[in-house]
Order: sequence, then structure tokens, then C-alpha cells
Amino acid sequence: MRRRIVAGNWKMNGSKDLVKQLVGAVCEQSGNVGKDVEVVIIPPAIYLGQVAEQGGGRITTGAQNVSQWQSGAYTGEISAEMARDMGCGYVLVGHSERRQLFGETDSVAAAKVEQVLLSGLVAVLCVGETLAEREAGQAEAVVAEQVRSGLSVVADDQWSRVVVAYEPVWAIGTGKTATADDAQAMHSEIRKVLDGMNAPANEISVLYGGSVKADNAAALFAEPDIDGGLIGGASLKAEEFISICRSFPAGV
Ligand code: PGA
Repeated sequence: MRRRIVAGNWKMNGSKDLVKQLVGAVCEQSGNVGKDVEVVIIPPAIYLGQVAEQGGGRITTGAQNVSQWQSGAYTGEISAEMARDMGCGYVLVGHSERRQLFGETDSVAAAKVEQVLLSGLVAVLCVGETLAEREAGQAEAVVAEQVRSGLSVVADDQWSRVVVAYEPVWAIGTGKTATADDAQAMHSEIRKVLDGMNAPANEISVLYGGSVKADNAAALFAEPDIDGGLIGGASLKAEEFISICRSFPAGV
């Protein structure tokens, strides 16, 4: 069965105090989340150690970004190996904010995926079209290309450590979510692309992200090809985040 995952991407938000409060509160309630749901917290890298320590094994941690290089003279960067060393299980790659604000291309994303997989971690490749691309009828083609390029480096025995997050750029932080039908349609397309790459498409978790909240998560997670969510703003509120983690259909 595909893994169900809810991952909270804190972006550049937080403090030592917030880690204490938020991770504490999420952990307290983590027993109320379905046993097959993996709860992941992705704080700014500088707090990874504190989050892991406070999480005490009840949550998984993830890094928002790592370098495309293995190690060396790259001031300001952190490596995938360092993320593993700090106890991370997951690394986000190619988030739209990295692509748009930091000029990350598909080939940089591919190099990062390669590093993450080499370190034994799970790579969460983020993909998604802009509003202009959607309005021009190019959404599927843009996303397909991001998936093909970003995952071009994955070896046959590494697919079990690949997750895709579909995050339409126009839905991130805007309060606009794709409808459950539109998201399902794109997730199904992504699975077709993965299948075309000879990946085990039905075993790869595909998450949805973009203004997921407690009141829209259940409709999204009920779709057959949506295996969970990548949550930004709503992951900074413990109650809301936990309620999203509990929004899977009965039995999960
Ligand atoms: P949002 O962000 O939930 O605040 O829209 C999602 C993301 O960027 O991962």
C-alpha cells in the first residue's frame, strides 16, 4: 500500500519557542492520527536538531532544501548527508519558491534528488504549474516535464524513496485550492508519467499541496490518487495541522 503522508513545511517561519510549543502539541496528539499516516515536520534547517529531539521519534523530520553537491566549499549550503546525520527522513526538492525565487531549474532539482537518494533519504519532488501556464492549457505538459526531468536520475532500486508533491503555484499561500477533481486529474496524470518512466507508479505516494486546510483536506484525501498533503501555512497551527492529519477516509 502507498504511504499516506502529511508533511508540514514551515518555510522561513519559527523560533526555538515555536518548536517547543508546536512540536510538543503535535506530538501530544499524534496518537490520534491513523496508524498508517506518517506525520512529517519540515522546519528551517537550523531547528532540525531541536525538532528531532523534541519529537522523540513520534514524528519524522524533513529538510526544506539541500545542496546539489555532496560536500566542500559551498558556504551557506547544507548537504543531504548532513540532513541524514541530523535524523531527517525526507528532503523537499524543487519547491516552487526555490524555483521562482532562487532560480532552481529542473536540472538542479535532478542533481538534488540524486544527492538525497545517495544519502538514503526520501526525496519529495515538488512540481506544479503557474496560473499563466494553466490558463494557456499547458498545466499537464509543464508538470510532466518537471517530473520527467527531476526524476531522470532515479535508479530502479530507488523508487521506493521517491515521493511527488503536486503544488499548483497559484494555490500556494493564496487561499485558492485546486478542486478535488482537478487535483485528482493531475495526480492521475503524474502517475501515468511515472508509469512511462518504468517506475512502480502505483506504489509512489503523490501528495497535494497549496492552501490545504482542515476544512478542505478530507475532500482532497478522499481522491484515489491523492496520498496526503504538503502543508504550508496551516502547519503552523497545531490543532489545524493535526486535524488535517486526521482527514483521511475511515480505515487509514
Ligand atoms: P500553503 O503552502 O499550504 O501555505 O499554500 C504549501 C507549500 O508551499 O508547500
